[in-house]
Amino acid sequence: MTAKLPSDFLWGYATASYQIEGSPDVQGRSPSIWDTFSHTPGKIKDGSNGDVATDSYRRWGEDIALLKLSGANSYRFSISWSRIIPQGGRGDLINADAIEHYGVFIETLRKNGIKPVVTLYHWDLPQALHDRYGGWLNKEEIVQDYVNYARTCFRYFGDSVKDWITHNEPWCISVLGYATGAFAPGHKGDTEHWIVAHNLLLAHAYAVKAYRDEFQASQGGQIGITLDCSWQMPYDDSPENVAAAQRSIAFKLGRFADPIYKGHYPKIVKDMIGDRLPEFTEEEISVVKGSSDFFGLNTYTTQLAMEGGDNEIQGNVKNTFTKPDGTQLGKECTSSHLDEHVAKLTTILAQRMCLGYRHILPVSARVTENGFPVKGENTLEVDKAINDTARVDYFEGYTDALLRAVNEDGVPVKGYFAWSILDNFEWADGYDTRFGVTYVDFATQRRTTKSSYDFLKKVWKRRRHSGGAL
Ligand code: FCB
Repeated sequence: MTAKLPSDFLWGYATASYQIEGSPDVQGRSPSIWDTFSHTPGKIKDGSNGDVATDSYRRWGEDIALLKLSGANSYRFSISWSRIIPQGGRGDLINADAIEHYGVFIETLRKNGIKPVVTLYHWDLPQALHDRYGGWLNKEEIVQDYVNYARTCFRYFGDSVKDWITHNEPWCISVLGYATGAFAPGHKGDTEHWIVAHNLLLAHAYAVKAYRDEFQASQGGQIGITLDCSWQMPYDDSPENVAAAQRSIAFKLGRFADPIYKGHYPKIVKDMIGDRLPEFTEEEISVVKGSSDFFGLNTYTTQLAMEGGDNEIQGNVKNTFTKPDGTQLGKECTSSHLDEHVAKLTTILAQRMCLGYRHILPVSARVTENGFPVKGENTLEVDKAINDTARVDYFEGYTDALLRAVNEDGVPVKGYFAWSILDNFEWADGYDTRFGVTYVDFATQRRTTKSSYDFLKKVWKRRRHSGGAL
């Protein structure tokens, strides 16, 4: 397909500090809640942790070489808060070694023609703040400390970094961290996650305000947030399942996107959660509303949504991959059911999620993560694992659908980041689940590119050589 993409379109790969860096106590870094969590027996499927991961704090030169050869024009990575400010808070020491490290890293990316896209928070809260006052549960403290950390990054890196993402996936931070307990810090219950989500929104919004008031005019960058949602397709066209799909999106995406793009929580969420849903003051909501320069979306799959069940987090909606005729929606893989057809659906429909907010703000959308865990890949020898045809199919479906969304549906997508350049530490799954386009032998740290790496490289190259066409 040779359809046009905007000339300022960003394409590349995404990673996160805790998933790749390793070196937990090098150059003054302090522990984050993910160090504590992964070292707690029983929390990570294979009993592993991120102590080494892909060793990228030391091997970053290899990462940049892989990115450059891949044809990526941008790289989305996250900064580790507990490296920059090891004790986390305002008034605590700023770590010159870490500033130097990320500064050199960013300049090397730029010299290689790769635009840095920086996530400030990809889940690794300094443990010190969690211990000091309860971390994300403490509105008065965390909002100010987060803004202080963000401001430090703008000050030191903002002359070179023009694309900032405040948080990655606040749904996962709040729900998996404070409701199901599957992620750090491992709390369970039905109330804390609403408080944490609220505080995440405020921290995001006040950091954006600081950027806009103090840095944007001179540095000229953009700032926004990355939300996550899989497309919720009604199980069938019965009115209750159509309504269930909409409710599911309100509980997953709307609980964050509506305050940011519309200035209030979705009514259905308010009605169901009642007093457990914190309220914004008038001043707060005026800062939250309009606080993202773009619509950042991580999207991996499509699910069928059905009325029923008592899972309040999902708005009492059940999800399935089995269609009414008994067949499966896509092929099975490690964590979800995906194939190229589902990818098409996911893309086209997921982009409509962005369109749902377009009349409110003239936002452009960015797919900030999208990727595929091949089932059983971790049991294969390297020579077999690199032949990842299922992942190629997925990316083929996705990039094709992306172009269709841009060209046929008029969706203003301005970026696409595949997850991920390397196999890495996949949170509670440990090293069992591989998402990389590059195989990592974790015993030797040897990197071997997979077929999907070559595939995406060709996709990007075709676009370059045909003057704006993919
Ligand atoms: C997303 C996370 C990312 C990675 C992918 C597979 O939810 O943002 O860190 O783990 O899933």
